[in-house]
Amino acid sequence: MAKRKSKQTVKWGSATAAIHAGEPKHGRGGPVAPEIVRSSTFTFSSTAEMKRWAEGKSSAYIYTRYGNPTLAIAEQKIAALEGAEAAVVAASGMAAISCALLATLNAGDEVISTAQLYGGTYRLMRDIFPRFGIRVRHVGPDLAGVEEMVTPQTRVLYVETPTNPALRLVDLRRAVELAREFKLVSIMDNTFASPLLQKPLELGFDIVVHSATKYLAGHSDLIGGAAAGSREWIERVHEYVIYLGGCMDPEGAYLLIRGMKTLGLRMARQCENAMAIARFLERHRKVARVNYPGLASHPDHRLARRQMSGFGGMLSFDMKGGIAAARRFSDRVRLFSLAASLGGVESLVILPMYTSHYKMSSAELEQAGVTPGTVRVSVGIEDPADLIEDLKQALA
Ligand SMILES: Cc1ncc(COP(=O)(O)O)c(C=O)c1O
Repeated sequence: MAKRKSKQTVKWGSATAAIHAGEPKHGRGGPVAPEIVRSSTFTFSSTAEMKRWAEGKSSAYIYTRYGNPTLAIAEQKIAALEGAEAAVVAASGMAAISCALLATLNAGDEVISTAQLYGGTYRLMRDIFPRFGIRVRHVGPDLAGVEEMVTPQTRVLYVETPTNPALRLVDLRRAVELAREFKLVSIMDNTFASPLLQKPLELGFDIVVHSATKYLAGHSDLIGGAAAGSREWIERVHEYVIYLGGCMDPEGAYLLIRGMKTLGLRMARQCENAMAIARFLERHRKVARVNYPGLASHPDHRLARRQMSGFGGMLSFDMKGGIAAARRFSDRVRLFSLAASLGGVESLVILPMYTSHYKMSSAELEQAGVTPGTVRVSVGIEDPADLIEDLKQALA
């Protein structure tokens, strides 16, 4: 967790915070770009300080798995962007998600989660948690039935919005209301929107998690994760990062810091490009349905207007000819890359059935909003005309 004093004196807007939050204040002749502190370990000034550290009275850096000055800059930026008291970075989005969940759950507890989730999170809950006595039950994006599902063992309400890859929305205010009514810890995966487009903690969520691999870093060149929330919650999540060993590497933290500085610009362009592509696809005769919250035809368009400040750079669409048509299209794209992951500057397409949502039954795929003809698109920051030209030739 962050320890260093930064140069922030007033509350900044998101674009300013992404650039300046957490950056150390130097005098004349100091570096403008942050340093990468590669050291795995740090010296104590004396055994007296060593003793103070052991007693929890010193916040000195001692070992990078426990904390590191470069990681602290990334953590302060994420905390500032999410409007959080604190944040902790981790080796991947899955490390942040599993540590956040394990920090809030005990054997015998239950989680209520949206069924529409990143496939890795869904498989963690389905295949790993039951081995530790944690039961997970799923609801639709409208959260209908949560009240009936809650038992004295229910401890966590977990949601993701917009969902991967169906792009449905969960009403964040409703989720907070339910969590408060039933005294549940509310955890939200904000990867798809990024804190530029929605700030769940400000609406009352307890913990926000991220795959920092995606929009936060933005250049498809690092794997990372983060959790943000109150100091109390983040100290607990940090403990799990320390003991399960999923800390971020300082080199990765540097790339994350560098990437976050352009989050505002990238996200604005990605929102514009995604809207242009969604409109093009919606008119195309070979496309059965386009899932983009910015389209008036989207079932959650009004909710998106209420709770997001932009509609994001992710969309998915269903091809009329099912899997054969989806494969034909995906094998023909030239400018788009056929690659998993999302949120980078370059545009990507994947078939969720074979990637993010592999190892799922037909019923689970249906629940996740994935059909055999579903193509997921991560829209980059290229010229929109070039992207649309590529889609046209691949669909022809
Ligand atoms: C919404 C969402 N959350 C979490 C993850 C997991 O992140 P990571 O791959 O960084 O572990 C992903 C990865 O695709 C994702 O899309």
